[in-house]
Amino acid sequence: MDTLFSTAFEHLPNPTLIIAGDRQVSFANKAAITTFGAIIGKDLALTFRHPNILNAVDKTLASGSTETGELSIPGPLAQVFELHTISIFETPASQCVLLLLEDKTKVARSEEMRVDFVANASHELRSPLSAILGFIETLQGPASDDEQARTRFLGIMGREAERMNRLIDDLLHLSRVEMDEHVRPKGHVDIANTIQNVFDLLETRATSKSMKLKLVGSDQPSSIKGDGDQLNQVFRNLIENAVHYGNPDTAIEVTIEQRNNPPNELKNGISVHIKDCSNGIEKQHIPRLTERFYRIDSARTRLENNAQISTGLGLAIVKHIINRHRGRLKIESEIGVGSTFSIFLPKE
Ligand SMILES: Nc1ncnc2c1ncn2[C@@H]1O[C@H](COP(=O)(O)OP(=O)(O)OP(=O)(O)O)[C@@H](O)[C@H]1O
Ligand SMILES: [Mg+2]
Repeated sequence: MDTLFSTAFEHLPNPTLIIAGDRQVSFANKAAITTFGAIIGKDLALTFRHPNILNAVDKTLASGSTETGELSIPGPLAQVFELHTISIFETPASQCVLLLLEDKTKVARSEEMRVDFVANASHELRSPLSAILGFIETLQGPASDDEQARTRFLGIMGREAERMNRLIDDLLHLSRVEMDEHVRPKGHVDIANTIQNVFDLLETRATSKSMKLKLVGSDQPSSIKGDGDQLNQVFRNLIENAVHYGNPDTAIEVTIEQRNNPPNELKNGISVHIKDCSNGIEKQHIPRLTERFYRIDSARTRLENNAQISTGLGLAIVKHIINRHRGRLKIESEIGVGSTFSIFLPKE
């Protein structure tokens, strides 16, 4: 191939291949080798065991047509590519196919997440709504004269309506946080004060489970650049979870740690560790906890939570707020011992 073209193809960001008439890979650029390994000289059918790519190449070889299609490569990290084949002539006698692949994995993944999100949100709204509609029907019909049933059903309907209200509030909140995610916060927040305010708010709930809330390291200055309301929400969600999922008669320990010249982070900052004593979280759930609506055992959470109404959005909100602050969230847990949710927030 002309060296000018081969240099240009070599540096294209997308996987680019040339397939000879016998279906052998005669050229693969850097992006193609990084993605698919050493494929030069190999048979296309052995490299990509996918009918779409073979059909497209065969058609182009046979008729010179330009083909497009989709190539999905299964695996633990499935990849999706859009493929284009173009007929080219290496020599007047030998026809080849230029195969261009465009990585659509991210687009496909975000589309999948959007569809999941709409399905989850509708499902979460539909269950309390069906309950309310069911009770309205009962109150209009068989229980219309039953005073006792009326009071009880109205109580349940109130709680279900509250659940829908909370879900909508959290969804709106989440979308606002996502919208501002690229705008750096301008205010200044005292972390120790914020945590103390959250403690005051949750004191009664903790006491009702005979739990103690302990704050360690609040004697050091802990002011950082951030959004006060949002950071309040972060600590509230994390400490609320610790109270809710922690065992009765235990202590929740919140430690503020100064991180000056930290080894891994580029900036100085503050870490906060929220440690609870509970049954712990199994390893496979940990990476998924910050997904919207993800609950470990949704049926159990919902039953236990009847009074408190869980939405499964708390940690998703926490993650987006921490991203906006250019911070990090780390979750560690040991079965039968408890969990520690640690966040790092840069000072500036
Ligand atoms: N400290 C914890 N210990 C054990 N499990 C936890 C803890 N924090 C969160 N989880 C698990 O992670 C799931 C997601 O938490 P998240 O805060 O996002 O939602 P939630 O608490 O169910 O609802 P809410 O929107 O009311 O916060 C919870 O349902 C629970 O299963
Ligand atoms: Mg929660």
